[in-house]
Amino acid sequence: MRHDDAMAAQLVVGLTGGIGSGKSTAAELFAGHGAGIIDTDQIAHLLTRSGGKAIDAIRAAFGADFIGADGALDRVRMRRRIFADAHAKQRLESILHPLIFGQAKAQLAQLQDKPYIIVVVPLLAESPAFRQLVKRTLVVDCDEATQVARVTGRGGMDETEARTVIAQQTPRAERLQLADDVIHNEAGLDSLAEQVAVLHQRYSAMQNSN
Ligand SMILES: Nc1ncnc2c1ncn2[C@@H]1O[C@H](COP(=O)(O)OP(=O)(O)OP(=O)(O)O)[C@@H](O)[C@H]1O
Ligand SMILES: [Mg+2]
Repeated sequence: MRHDDAMAAQLVVGLTGGIGSGKSTAAELFAGHGAGIIDTDQIAHLLTRSGGKAIDAIRAAFGADFIGADGALDRVRMRRRIFADAHAKQRLESILHPLIFGQAKAQLAQLQDKPYIIVVVPLLAESPAFRQLVKRTLVVDCDEATQVARVTGRGGMDETEARTVIAQQTPRAERLQLADDVIHNEAGLDSLAEQVAVLHQRYSAMQNSN
């Protein structure tokens, strides 16, 4: 197989799910099986740390108050602003999303030796660019009570904040309609690991049959 063909054939799976559904945990398990992982949350974090590529544009759009003394995005202040103002949320996303997509594609080019790629995209349902990039969509699903319990249990958000984020995200039923594959993540970590192992076999076989 020529290198170009290998690149064209590489399976790229978009992994999505609501807040606290278990996306990062599932991605770590896939990584343990040897999958290439691209994490758009991590990319967003890098873009908004001190010296990150999004900082100047955020300062220009929102004002210097939103950049902390350390030069990084003031995440707490921005989160409060976004909770209160859907327009501000859109504005921030219009800055971040093209940058995140560009970085994800650059990382993809570096992961050509991996059997397949899992791209963790919380906002996959809202992102036409990412939906076009991925060949399959894997949804990590659990009920809202489980999401709230996990998010509050992890610390950093209370129940009201967790429910606000859930209400802002794509509804569960709508997200599930996008799914080629679903991980049901309401039971414990063993159940999650078993489902990931099955999907790993399936994705590896798809890769080889290309
Ligand atoms: N099957 C499970 N059993 C028990 N705990 C779990 C399970 N899956 C995930 N968790 C825990 O729930 C919390 C949320 O999981 P995780 O961070 O993977 O979710 P996420 O979808 O990546 O969240 P976010 O949307 O905030 O990025 C973590 O503390 C994780 O350890
Ligand atoms: Mg996560």
